[in-house]
Amino acid sequence: MPFKEYNSNLKLITMKTILHIDASARLTTNSVEEYNSISKSIAASFINKWKENNPTDKIIHRDVGVNPPNFITQDWIAAVFTPDEVKTKEQRALLSLSDTLINELEQADIIVMSSPMYNYGLPAALKAWFDQVIRINKTFSFDLTRGDHPLEPIMSGKTMVLATSCGEFGFGPGGINEKKNHLGTHIQTMSHYLGIDTFYEINAEYQEFNDDRHKESVQNAHNKAKELASTLSNSYISTLQ
Ligand SMILES: Cc1cc2nc3c(=O)[nH]c(=O)nc-3n(C[C@H](O)[C@H](O)[C@H](O)COP(=O)(O)O)c2cc1C
Repeated sequence: MPFKEYNSNLKLITMKTILHIDASARLTTNSVEEYNSISKSIAASFINKWKENNPTDKIIHRDVGVNPPNFITQDWIAAVFTPDEVKTKEQRALLSLSDTLINELEQADIIVMSSPMYNYGLPAALKAWFDQVIRINKTFSFDLTRGDHPLEPIMSGKTMVLATSCGEFGFGPGGINEKKNHLGTHIQTMSHYLGIDTFYEINAEYQEFNDDRHKESVQNAHNKAKELASTLSNSYISTLQ
């Protein structure tokens, strides 16, 4: 449950927790600027602006590009489907990373996720994170009495801000590569099972062209990330009646 404080103008400020997930294999600290991850730097623009407005909010950061979660295994799946009361010590150990990642998600009001486009979709490391987190009776329930849609998310009310970068361009609606976009579309579909009700996506394109269109696209993405951070943080402030 988020706690609350009042600022000097007697506005009610609800403290938020942000879960910040980066996924590019690239860092943001390379000495050669162009080797740095664009998607991570756009997410950082959002986070830095958020911190300016909400310096005491909790931010949980994971870089799955640098520290990828394990891929799930047959034993992992068996452990997930074993009732808690009869789980073995080994099965509990096998699920401990998943438990930790889900606990981080449960705390989060906002998820700021950054991802490169790799082979028209998300990196395997980020998919591994989703596979560890979207788990029966933890993040979704399954009930055949619901008919053709037996899955339902357990959590709700969360917001996701997704920052992406790609080498080509035109992946949006009506764009020349619209049909090849399996990045934002896939993440948005999965995000339903994280309890995401509101989804924003900010894209930088043209990285492989390294031209003015690329510079403009990256600049616009940073501006949008900062604007969205301000707009969203204002939306959590309400004036005392
Ligand atoms: C392994 C790999 C696969 C890529 N596949 C695609 C792709 O399918 N489509 C595309 O537009 N760009 C592709 N790119 C380019 C990246 O999306 C681009 O460099 C992006 O800026 C990477 O994100 P980052 O800057 O956050 O690391 C690929 C790059 C790499 C390294």
